[in-house]
Amino acid sequence: MGVKGQFIAFEGCEGSGKTTQIKLLTKILVSKGFDVLATREPGGSPGGEDVRTLLKQGHENRWDGLSEALLLYAARHDHVEKIIKPAIDKGTWVLCDRFSDSSFAYQGFGRGLGLQTLEKLHTLVLGDFFPDLTFIFDIPPQETYERVLRRRSRPGQGGDRFDDMEMAFHQRVYEGYHVIAQKYAHRCAVIQATVSIEAIQENIVGVLEKKFSDSGALKPHV
Ligand SMILES: Nc1ncnc2c1ncn2[C@@H]1O[C@H](COP(=O)(O)OP(=O)(O)OP(=O)(O)O)[C@@H](O)[C@H]1O
Ligand SMILES: [Mg+2]
Repeated sequence: MGVKGQFIAFEGCEGSGKTTQIKLLTKILVSKGFDVLATREPGGSPGGEDVRTLLKQGHENRWDGLSEALLLYAARHDHVEKIIKPAIDKGTWVLCDRFSDSSFAYQGFGRGLGLQTLEKLHTLVLGDFFPDLTFIFDIPPQETYERVLRRRSRPGQGGDRFDDMEMAFHQRVYEGYHVIAQKYAHRCAVIQATVSIEAIQENIVGVLEKKFSDSGALKPHV
């Protein structure tokens, strides 16, 4: 059995820069000779993407928080079993755009189900399977507001402002991520995300080098 890949999740509020950094890190790791899989949640497997469509279609209050959490974990189970675990086992580094901490933050804190409920659901579905490392992008929702609205103003992206309720929701999610980062400090790295794209990228590479170079895991398996 060869060397296992690493499983790295990218977390944070809407517009915090996750997808931007995953694209950059994928290029860096590929240029160093790593096998990389960039994937996302909800989605990432054919079944997971079907559930993503279910979650995104229709009225925004179509699902209550618990139904949403159950759908997300159905999709996550499919994604983990069919895509993520097989990739890690063959030595691929998996970079995942959102994972369990998004459910903890959005359904647990944003929707008010509570962290414990989400942790129980996680244990039931995935046991103790968590990412080896989770980057949590730290930028308050007030600061990403403009970025998110810019994207929404594109055709088909919906509203052109946040109302007070929506801002309060994003604030709960943001604060929830801080609770998660503290509770799961052994696998979480909080990344200051108010700085430039380049500065964030350097910080991410620095954290990876510190975490994985000692174990030799940063050496490409060629
Ligand atoms: N450090 C940064 N400074 C300024 N703008 C940024 C920075 N990082 C990303 N952006 C821009 O902000 C927007 C949102 O970035 P991105 O799509 O990477 O965020 P995200 O966290 O993936 O959002 P979502 O959760 O909604 O998918 C993009 O237009 C991106 O170019
Ligand atoms: Mg994104």
